Amino acid sequence: MTKDTQQDLSPNTLPNPFNQGYFESEELRKFGFKSVGENVKIAKNTTIIGLNNISLGNNIRIDGNVVIAAYSGSLTLGNYIHIGGGCYLGCAGGITMGDFSGLSQGISIYSGTDDYTGKSLTNPTVPHKYLKVKLAPVVLGKHVIVGSGSVILPGVTIGEGSSVGALSLVTKSLDEWGVYFGAPAKKLKARSKDMLKLESELMLENASKSTQQQRSV
Ligand SMILES: CC(C)(COP(=O)(O)OP(=O)(O)OC[C@H]1O[C@@H](n2cnc3c(N)ncnc32)[C@H](O)[C@@H]1OP(=O)(O)O)[C@@H](O)C(=O)NCCC(=O)NCCS
Repeated sequence: MTKDTQQDLSPNTLPNPFNQGYFESEELRKFGFKSVGENVKIAKNTTIIGLNNISLGNNIRIDGNVVIAAYSGSLTLGNYIHIGGGCYLGCAGGITMGDFSGLSQGISIYSGTDDYTGKSLTNPTVPHKYLKVKLAPVVLGKHVIVGSGSVILPGVTIGEGSSVGALSLVTKSLDEWGVYFGAPAKKLKARSKDMLKLESELMLENASKSTQQQRSV
């Protein structure tokens, strides 16, 4: 367990029952996900439906009280991805998150939605032929970060490197490398690309660690 995911264990007390801890890659691979990379951690109080539609890269952390509904569609997560507590991911139309992207807390992403115009019945308890569900993929590019409490609707692509401020509603695709916020989300300014240098440094560090490991085998 790493420092950020460890259980609270103090001497003379029971383990903290409110911190259920995380499943990690080795165990997760037994549950039926489509794929699970290295260093993946998923909080034990996460709700996930449709494990066989979910592909997980390396270095991923999914925190508590996240709900992932993937009984149809798909969820594809790249590498170095964080999904903060209390997020909801409706995956019926397909959700993809690129490397180094993240959701803070309490964000909802819908790749499928009922028709709100009144031309059909709504909600999943009604037989499908009476509904008019819109399905469209949601794609978050590399280095995208979404602020607390935001909502992203079907068909949205958030371009590489863009950030979305807290409490935003994203109804249309956003271009690359911008800072956006609001309902509906609008561009505030360009976003710095300084992080790309740090990404290169991290990749070099990883490559050098893996060479050292191969030599020591
Ligand atoms: C959008 C955001 C990135 C902009 O940050 P910034 O570049 O430092 O911009 P500023 O704080 O200077 O704000 C610029 C203006 O936009 C307004 N603003 C900023 N964020 C806003 C938001 N999410 N919604 C509505 N208005 C917002 C500010 O009040 C300010 O208005 P003013 O010019 O009338 O005073 C930031 O405010 C934000 O929402 N960050 C998300 C933080 C978060 O969710 N963290 C969770 C843990 S990771």
